[in-house]
Formats: sequence, structure tokens, C-alpha cells
Amino acid sequence: MPTTSHETAAAHVTLEDRYELVERIGEGAMGIVYLARDLVLDIPVAVKMLRVEYCRIAEVVRMFEQEATLSARMLSPHVVKVLARATARSGAPCIVYEYLAGESVATRIERSPRLELDEVCAIVLQAARALSRAHALGVVHRDVKPDNLFLVEHADSRPVLKVLDFGVAEKLARPGGAGSGGLVGTTAYLAPEVFFGPGLPDARTDLYALGVVAYECLTGACPYPPECYDDLFDAMSKSTRRSVRETRPELPEEIDEWMDRALHPDPFWRFASARELAHDLERVVRANAAPRPRPVVTVARSTMKRAAPRFTRAA
Ligand SMILES: Nc1ncnc2c1ncn2[C@@H]1O[C@H](COP(=O)(O)OP(=O)(O)O)[C@@H](O)[C@H]1O
Ligand SMILES: [Mg+2]
Repeated sequence: MPTTSHETAAAHVTLEDRYELVERIGEGAMGIVYLARDLVLDIPVAVKMLRVEYCRIAEVVRMFEQEATLSARMLSPHVVKVLARATARSGAPCIVYEYLAGESVATRIERSPRLELDEVCAIVLQAARALSRAHALGVVHRDVKPDNLFLVEHADSRPVLKVLDFGVAEKLARPGGAGSGGLVGTTAYLAPEVFFGPGLPDARTDLYALGVVAYECLTGACPYPPECYDDLFDAMSKSTRRSVRETRPELPEEIDEWMDRALHPDPFWRFASARELAHDLERVVRANAAPRPRPVVTVARSTMKRAAPRFTRAA
């Protein structure tokens, strides 16, 4: 019987005699992601296969191929590593990624909708490092959102964040320049100047989206949830969103100042770089961290005075 979808084709299929698909572990708008085994290196890998409905659309196939090359060029500890490109027997293009064990930030928020400020800061800091690298290479991600940020679990340390999915990323003519436009991305994370025009995507588009991610991690909802979509322009241009402290009164006031800058409707007033955005959030967290109690050291009286060393003069 002919296979009609990638899903039915997945079980026990081997790509290019090397990658044996094991199970489906994720999906997004563009692709389906499988856990697979690299039979040569004997390691688990993740294979992202372009959805069957897109395989005949030349522009989408081009973007998918570009995802592989752009992600591979990032060489950042906070961007998922590309291991290879492959083609399924159906002709569907695939990207072989390092396999990440953990959960996306989207799943993390579903599990516990209001994260602690220091956890959010760790997410923002690491995502900002990846974006800083991308922006320095003249690449705008254009789809920064919780589904595309992945927390890799480690037994003896805090999770390491990796940015996924450079599927709609755009190479700018020069670093710091602006893209060619075209509305791509996800509504809730789109900067107003790009959504409503006339702005073109640039580094600040990604930084706005990262601000939305931080807001969502802290409050459990996006600044402009679907109820606002009827008059989104008005809501965004007047910044009618709820302050973070309406939902989280225990957080420091500066968090709303940070958010006002990160989500400012005018890109001119936003943070100028990923580094600046991250450092400013770190400053807020540090300034409000509870002082660590001083360790109490009790010293036994007999050990307080060290006996003077004795020297015997050589004869
Ligand atoms: N390398 C990976 N290791 C483990 N899971 C992954 C990996 N890449 C993607 N995923 C999972 O698959 C989901 C979709 O992947 P993504 O690259 O964002 O696809 P799309 O372009 O279709 O949105 C992610 O949210 C994540 O849960
Ligand atoms: Mg995605």
C-alpha cells in the first residue's frame, strides 16, 4: 500500500541507510521531528522532515534548505547543532540535528505557568546569546517563541537553552541592516512595526519577541492575548497590556520598567542589542536577589590560636 504521509512512513524507515527513524517527538508548522538512530555513530539524533504538503513548493523547500545552512553557521552553544542533511525516499528533504533531551519552553510554561524570575532570566540570557551571534552574522531568526526555545536537561546543572528552528530566518544584506519584509512569524510574538508596517524585520524584531517570551514565562499569558486581536493595533500602540506586577505583585518594580523597554511600540526606544536586553534583566534580578545569609562559622577555642612553628637551628 502506498504511504500517504510522513507519519505512516516513519516507523522503522531508514534514511540513506544511516538514520533509522524511531518515533515522532515533535512538530511545528514546517516539519515533523523524529527521534532517530545514527547507525554509523550509534547515537540518537533528531531528524526534521519537511511536511509532505510543502515538498512541492519551491520557496518552502529553499527556506528549509536555508534553515540547515544558517543553523549550521551559528556555532553557538545555544543553537541546536546540525549534523547533516538527508533526503527521505519520498523525496522529502530532512535535516539531521543533535538530539536534545528535555522540553521546550512552551512545555515548561504549560507545566508551570508562572516561572521564577531567575529562571526566566536564565532563559532570556541564553536565548540572547544565541540571537547576539545570529545578529552579528547578519541573520534575523524571525520566529522567536517558546516552541522554538528548548531546555536541555543536565543531571548536575541547570538546563541549557538551545534556540531551534531557523526555518523562516532571513539573511540581512549587512549586519544591523533590515530584512526584506514579508509577514512571517507568529502573531503573538510579532513586533508591531512589522505586523502593521512599515517596519522591516531586523534584530529588534527578535528582541521584541524575546520580551514577549519573558512576559509569558512570568505571567502565563502573552501581553496581547487573542481577546485583543479585534483591535490589536490600538492595544499595541497604546501599550494597553497588563503590567507584570498586576499578575505578580511580589516581583520588583523594575521588571515592569524592563518590560516597557523590551515591548516598546516604537523600536527606537527598545533595547538596542540582545546583550543590552539580557544584561539589563540580569541587573534587575541581581539588585533584587535576597541577600545570602552569612555562613556562621564556629571555631573551637583550642584551634583559634595556631601553635607557632618550632624551628631547630642547625648546628
Ligand atoms: N533537535 C531536537 N531534539 C529534540 N526535539 C526537537 C529537536 N528539534 C525539534 N524538536 C521538537 O520538535 C518541535 C518542532 O521543531 P521545529 O524545528 O520548531 O519545527 P517547525 O519548523 O516545524 O516549527 C520543537 O518544538 C521541539 O519540541
Ligand atoms: Mg518551530
